[in-house]
Amino acid sequence: MDKRRIIIDTDPGIDDAAAISLAIISNRFDIRLISAAAANVDVDKTTKNALKLVEFFGVDIPVARGCERPLLHELESSPDIHGESGMDGYDFPEPRKKPLPVHSVEAMRRVIMEEEGKTTLVTIAALTNVALLFTMYPEVKGRIDEIVMMGGGIFRGNATSAAEFNIYIDPHAAAMVFRSGVPIRMAGLDVTEHALLHKDCLIKMRDSGRVGHMLYSIFSHYRDGDMDTGLAMHDPCTIALMLEPDMFRMEDHYIEVVTEGIAAGALVTNLERKMKIGCAPNVSVCMGIDEKRFEEWFTDMICR
Ligand code: BDR
Ligand code: CA
Repeated sequence: MDKRRIIIDTDPGIDDAAAISLAIISNRFDIRLISAAAANVDVDKTTKNALKLVEFFGVDIPVARGCERPLLHELESSPDIHGESGMDGYDFPEPRKKPLPVHSVEAMRRVIMEEEGKTTLVTIAALTNVALLFTMYPEVKGRIDEIVMMGGGIFRGNATSAAEFNIYIDPHAAAMVFRSGVPIRMAGLDVTEHALLHKDCLIKMRDSGRVGHMLYSIFSHYRDGDMDTGLAMHDPCTIALMLEPDMFRMEDHYIEVVTEGIAAGALVTNLERKMKIGCAPNVSVCMGIDEKRFEEWFTDMICR
């Protein structure tokens, strides 16, 4: 089977580490680049964490360092959720590989433009790098088949009551990406807060081998949920969406991003589709998830 060519733009990040692990062990992707973004922690740490994961899995995936801060704001990171390093809890050896000598925007352009066929962008962080890519090199847009995104939420936020973290961190970048015309499939909080891993599955993973042990160790330091009520696997939903799309119920929506004021980072759509706002749908949104199937799928992937 042909592997799908992807670039992952990420801010590892504990659930990012889980998403990257799933992408690697699925063996269904040709991961051409991991582009590090600033969000959960600063970009030096997310770059290093990406290198640690590449080294842990012994894979030859280039890592590039992206922007240090959002387009217009200072960075408000989230070490309370992911720990000071961004991936606390496991004793990763010091990575031997270095990041590419070019900025991640340039590294993404090269992958997208210098190879035959189309590339998928998997975005599991704030969208600063992607917004700059589209601004500097608009020709890439026609060579991206879709963006598969963790971000946003139709009915709620987690950074504020209105805004999800990845969109809140850089709402201007998100607005540019949502307006870009590139097809977007979005897994937001409407489903990711239901993509939970509970204790029995986590213990099963811990005892299954090296990868399960590493994930269990970092999950023990993850503050988005707890092992009894369930840990929220936001970013892994993007991988599930590509590999097991019928786990999700999708709706097409026209979405705009609020960029200023107290609701900055909120997504607004026309729910009834009768009101006179908006245009043709620009996003295919996950509105439902088979929670039990997600948890089984995740556990099987790690334990197999
Ligand atoms: C998103 O925010 C980050 O903390 C997670 O890694 C995920 O990408 C969830 O809102
Ligand atoms: Ca993330």
